Amino acid sequence: MASETDGADSRTPVFGDYVFYDSRMALKAIELQELYRFTHWGRSRSLEQIERMLDATDLCFSIRHDVKLVAFCRMLTDFIFRASVWDILVHPDHQGRGVGSRLMRYALSHPAVRDIPVVTSFASDLTPFLERCGFENREGLMVLQRVPIAYS
Ligand SMILES: CC(C)(COP(=O)(O)OP(=O)(O)OC[C@H]1O[C@@H](n2cnc3c(N)ncnc32)[C@H](O)[C@@H]1OP(=O)(O)O)[C@@H](O)C(=O)NCCC(=O)NCCS
Repeated sequence: MASETDGADSRTPVFGDYVFYDSRMALKAIELQELYRFTHWGRSRSLEQIERMLDATDLCFSIRHDVKLVAFCRMLTDFIFRASVWDILVHPDHQGRGVGSRLMRYALSHPAVRDIPVVTSFASDLTPFLERCGFENREGLMVLQRVPIAYS
């Protein structure tokens, strides 16, 4: 494993015992389903849905600790004007250690998206966390919620 760093370099793929990945191939749907079980919005997602979702997602970011998947987020983007970050998630045993912030820095500084002018995220529970990551709370975000959040 590469040497330990404080994660100051946002593209450094190691932070203590945490190893960062920016490939969809770095995780299996079943591992992500395990992680989703800790959320009210993700626990109903089936394996088949997760597999299709991962295959259709532009960028997947994940973190492993002792081989185990402990954090994830994904981005949908046109790679020029717009990007959005979804499913930001850290395993409860690993929250509050700076893993989530570093995952966001790692994702937002990815060469494929770091120059994109507008990046959005819809996560009403995470407003303070996202503000620390550089996002602003803008009124005017409109959502067409077709299915309750627990099933979407
Ligand atoms: C939100 C989350 C990703 C943050 O990850 P984390 O590794 O715990 O965050 P960090 O340790 O990097 O903390 C960064 C800062 O955000 C704050 N923070 C952590 N979780 C937060 C939350 N749920 N709401 C608001 N702020 C939060 C921390 O207090 C910390 O601030 P500090 O540096 O001033 O102490 C993680 O708590 C999580 O997975 N929550 C549940 C998943 C979820 O519901 N995701 C939304 C779907 S998009």
